[in-house]
Amino acid sequence: MAPSQDSSENNASYTFKVTVIGSGNWGSVAAKLIASNTLALTSFHDEVRMWVYEETLPSGEKLTDVINRTNENVKYLPGIKLGRNVVADPDLENAVKDANMLVFVTPHQFMEGICRKLTGKIRADAEAISLVKGMEVKMEGPCMISSLISQQLGINCSVLMGANIANEIAVEKFSEATVGYRHNKDVAERWVQLFTTPYFIVTAVQDVEGVELCGTLKNAVALAAGFVDGLEMGNNTKAAIMRLGLREMKAFSKLLFPSVNDSTFFESCGVADLITTCLGGRNRKVAEAFAKNGGKRSFDELEAEMLQGQKLQGVSTAREVYEVLAHRGWLELFPLFSTVHEICTGRLPPSAIVEYSERQPRSS
Ligand SMILES: NC(=O)c1ccc[n+]([C@@H]2O[C@H](COP(=O)([O-])OP(=O)(O)OC[C@H]3O[C@@H](n4cnc5c(N)ncnc54)[C@H](O)[C@@H]3O)[C@@H](O)[C@H]2O)c1
Repeated sequence: MAPSQDSSENNASYTFKVTVIGSGNWGSVAAKLIASNTLALTSFHDEVRMWVYEETLPSGEKLTDVINRTNENVKYLPGIKLGRNVVADPDLENAVKDANMLVFVTPHQFMEGICRKLTGKIRADAEAISLVKGMEVKMEGPCMISSLISQQLGINCSVLMGANIANEIAVEKFSEATVGYRHNKDVAERWVQLFTTPYFIVTAVQDVEGVELCGTLKNAVALAAGFVDGLEMGNNTKAAIMRLGLREMKAFSKLLFPSVNDSTFFESCGVADLITTCLGGRNRKVAEAFAKNGGKRSFDELEAEMLQGQKLQGVSTAREVYEVLAHRGWLELFPLFSTVHEICTGRLPPSAIVEYSERQPRSS
């Protein structure tokens, strides 16, 4: 489908028009899930715009042109058809101008710049959802990506997180996800409707911060799991690291946001995402290589070599968590999080991941 400037005449009865902001591995899968539903549900406009950070491919062609010609994101999700109603658009302002449902799904380090560009450019009645894992650490404290979106754009923002390795959902293997919403259950149900398919089951919980912190913090734990794999320490050690990690995730979340619910950690966004990320995700994979190389090759170098343009989130998340812990005097309460960052920066060897003495993090 060629990009059209105004396709509203195509289905006049729609109420909701969706734009996906981001087109990496997960962004492309999210667009595919959404596009299958907007075609089937009458309240949604068929077309799904997908903003693409434009790149020139080795063939000399623009990524956007190739996506619109082949209906595939040949760089970030090769071999998967996105749906003919997905329209790639390299112009951020144009991509969002008609949309009242905005799906944010880019690596978190780009979110501040994207929000700055979108300020004053979106519909006043727009609702947002963030699939972005990570947070911004500012002088005044941590700022979750959903808060960044809400504050900069003046709109409500829900989140969707879960045990969701994109390539597995792309080939329609069964999985689950969690929507975290703030107040409005109707809005949450609309997001659930937009994402749910027979192979992707979405549940809503009223706990934005809990869901978002689960999705963010597990990437730091996945680095710890990768170190354990690289050092060939076996399954008992890895399970211990995952348990300690989950406990620190819960304690950290509840210290920052006392409203966070314990039950959120048992949703897909919690323990299930932690397990899948520690078994199969990219953070685990690169951390394993880091440990195998004795910490002598940097994460930047390994990321560039192993991920073909995809971004690691765990290293920056570990740094951001460490900054919060150091600023608040909590380092000793979170030995796993602190150690992960110190291994990433080369201050400690990878073997230090099992060398700290266990302390009980306070959860209140
Ligand atoms: N891939 C997964 O399995 C998965 C699953 C769940 C959640 N997530 C989360 O989804 C978010 C997006 O990840 P992804 O996998 O879609 O991305 P990705 O790592 O596959 O791709 C990187 C993306 O960043 C874009 N980019 C590069 N430079 C940019 C810039 N300067 N400004 C804006 N964009 C730029 C690239 O074009 C590409 O679309 C992340 O927060 C990630 O943690 C990923």
